[in-house]
Amino acid sequence: MLHRKKNCLNAPGTLEFHEGILWGDIFMGDSAPSSKPQQTVTLTDNATGRKFEFPVREGSIGPRVIDISKLYAETGMFTYDPGFTSTAACESAVTYIDGDKGILLHRGYSIKELAKKSDFLEVCYLLLHGELPNPEQKKEFVTIITRHTMVHEQMQFFFRGFRRDSHPMAVLVGTVGALAAFYHDSLDIDDPRQREIAAHRLIAKVPTLAALTYKYSIGQPFVYPRNELSFSENFLHMTFSVPTEPYKVNPILARAMDRIFILHADHEQNASTSTVRLAGSSRANPFACIASGIASLWGPAHGGANEAVLLMLNKIADKKNIPEYIKRSKDKNDSFRLMGFGHRVYKNYDPRAEIMRETCHEVLGELGIKNDPLLDIALELERIALQDPYFIEKKLYPNVDFYSGIILKAMGFPTSMFTVLFAVARTVGWVSQWKEMIEEPTQKIGRPRQLYTGSPERAFVPLDQRK
Ligand code: ACO
Repeated sequence: MLHRKKNCLNAPGTLEFHEGILWGDIFMGDSAPSSKPQQTVTLTDNATGRKFEFPVREGSIGPRVIDISKLYAETGMFTYDPGFTSTAACESAVTYIDGDKGILLHRGYSIKELAKKSDFLEVCYLLLHGELPNPEQKKEFVTIITRHTMVHEQMQFFFRGFRRDSHPMAVLVGTVGALAAFYHDSLDIDDPRQREIAAHRLIAKVPTLAALTYKYSIGQPFVYPRNELSFSENFLHMTFSVPTEPYKVNPILARAMDRIFILHADHEQNASTSTVRLAGSSRANPFACIASGIASLWGPAHGGANEAVLLMLNKIADKKNIPEYIKRSKDKNDSFRLMGFGHRVYKNYDPRAEIMRETCHEVLGELGIKNDPLLDIALELERIALQDPYFIEKKLYPNVDFYSGIILKAMGFPTSMFTVLFAVARTVGWVSQWKEMIEEPTQKIGRPRQLYTGSPERAFVPLDQRK
């Protein structure tokens, strides 16, 4: 056994970690046993002097992982990691992020290449199945998704139960959850065929529900999907066309929409994906799980950020007010943060933001928007923040949501729809991660532990004796 001492704490009652390598025999088929080192770390409890050894696992790329699944059984202790900043909750082969280098890979392919050379349905296939489709597989997949875009006609009665001024995310959470009430034949999560049908239904129907949500909010008639259109063209058609006149989809806007969907398709174990996995770990049906992901996405620290960026730009209102808002964002006693800046994982430029920035200029150019006051404020804010020592030291760069809001506004979407569009794109990521989890043979219900800080057990005090 080899022990390398690293970053050890020696105060009584603390734990020391030592890195090591455990040499064990590995038998492979009929061949002779070969010796292969297994990395370990040793944990020393300084209060008792006891030592415990834990295996270290390596993924294909990325940081090594200490396997502490036996920690409680062996030591009687839990780990404490609020916000899961150092905890890998699962194994996954779907998406990889290197936040320091600004790298995002889906099944090994870089997001920049996918955004430039692929299309959204191809990326959906890739995320779901692990490989890019060949021409025949692609044709079949596009046909399947296209033919699942209609929703049960009775769904419209659900919509009619909502107030017209409801936030679209409230309507989407409700209607996606309600899909479980309509599609009983794809709820058996132990049947691979039913899982596949549920995945297709979700990818195909969430855009339709999103478009219906918009139409309902503005009091226009619902528009049915059209099978001769591509995924993104169809979405724009269902959202913006009216029965009274022909609607021609602008190819540049359809391409921009497709790119926005690709850039938001998956992002490994973020808050909403972890929510979907946790909900799914109890073996809840896929429609309920995706509805839980939509609820988590709604928050302004996550998917709601693109809406929050626009609200913030409107509030800033003029370039001359930018320094005041920058100052506020740095003040510890002020809860204001620059929306669209910073990321839990990216401590470098978000690679999606780079592509989104390009797309933003393409869309504004196509629509002839030369002097958009909000874009002017956004670009000036970006320029100032990128030179500010506070933002540089804390590695706070613009994230994907900083630009997506500006593009979506230019395309005609109201601010309240921004997070809905994010949910349309992310549905495939949630479904792929959910499917991967369900297909894992050792999958267990997710059940985090806690550090209890409440009262120890105490006797009940009758009402008349309480002060
Ligand atoms: N404006 C000003 N200061 C910030 C910002 C910001 N947007 N983001 C982080 N900081 C500061 C924090 O105050 C903290 O300062 P401290 O070290 O002095 O305490 C430091 O930078 C580190 O920030 P954390 O809160 O520890 O970073 P965390 O990883 O927890 O948060 C988050 C990431 C939630 C995205 C945060 O940066 C934020 O709130 N940004 C604005 C909202 C936003 O744009 N969210 C979209 C995320 S991308 C997406 O979901 C697709």
